[in-house]
Amino acid sequence: MSTFAPDLSVEKVTHSRLNELNSDKIPFGKVFSDHMFVASYDEGNWQEAKIVPYGPVEMAPSLSALHYGQAVFEGMKAYKSPAGEPLLFRPEANFERINLSAQRLCMPAISKDVFLAGLTELIRLDSNWIPAGEGSLYIRPIYFATDELIGLKPSESYKFFIITCPVGAYYSQPVKLIVTEQYVRACEGGTGAAKVAGNYAASLLADKEAKAQGYDNVIWLDAIHRKYIEECGTMNLAFVIDNVVVTPKLTGTILNGITRNTVLTLFRDMGVAVEERLVSIDEIVEAYDGGVLMEAFGMGTAATIAPISTINYQGRDLTLPPVSEYKYSHAVGQKLEDIKTAKCEDPYGWVVRV
Ligand code: COI
Repeated sequence: MSTFAPDLSVEKVTHSRLNELNSDKIPFGKVFSDHMFVASYDEGNWQEAKIVPYGPVEMAPSLSALHYGQAVFEGMKAYKSPAGEPLLFRPEANFERINLSAQRLCMPAISKDVFLAGLTELIRLDSNWIPAGEGSLYIRPIYFATDELIGLKPSESYKFFIITCPVGAYYSQPVKLIVTEQYVRACEGGTGAAKVAGNYAASLLADKEAKAQGYDNVIWLDAIHRKYIEECGTMNLAFVIDNVVVTPKLTGTILNGITRNTVLTLFRDMGVAVEERLVSIDEIVEAYDGGVLMEAFGMGTAATIAPISTINYQGRDLTLPPVSEYKYSHAVGQKLEDIKTAKCEDPYGWVVRV
């Protein structure tokens, strides 16, 4: 991994806010660490890479990202090893994915030096913010258009920030999901596989309606048949049917989750049968009725491995077995946690010490 970008300047806070943090009760995504990384793209080049105290940024109301949504982001986490070293998990995968998302929105690629050197230096500087024990430091790279222009065209200037926040669980309870047939998240040829801000904005109404009915979030179906399971919006989904892990295949309309890829790799290494294929909601109902739907769970950076307790489809609640009996997702979740915190062997070199 690269070290410093040659012109990375660092302005440190004079007073850390860390001792104001109640580490027993960390709300997800609301408390930010002392510093942030920022780099600008202008006149065809990345420039002005710097680390500065976390805080508000000035912007013009004509900022093109606000009008036309040229904005992409990533989600990653830093952990501590038992010896207290800061660790990143698969940062190169996030680097590659943010540039795929950027390409889809006609934004220039972020240079590797800017992304990885900014990330590494920021995590080193704020490593005290990585919670010890349970919890992690959530890292949010965010990249958006900054031309001041009311006119639809790709921006010529951009800003790339990395901010971080100490977090606990995204879902503190087993998750209850409801299948939506009314709304769709993505369609073929659209932006479903990219981590673009607009995908999340477009999910909010369905999410709000799900919450009003007592569910945590929705299960999206494919846009054409309203039949095949896509994802949840906050995470990819998997099911254990008759001891086989089944997950929707990457059709171009769902996010290519780094946690999803990691979990499937670990399951295969554990000798568990994994199928990536179209999964219809009818198949899930049939498996449930036939007594072979053993587990359902989500996979994501924020959500980690989130056991699902209920799936509502067409007014019927499928109440899954007690999540305490979920041996597959529990075992893979434990393995993943051990790798991320350097408590066991890391055969794929996923963990990067910063
Ligand atoms: C992540 O898991 O990192 C995400 O970006 C999902 C978001 C809903 C928190």
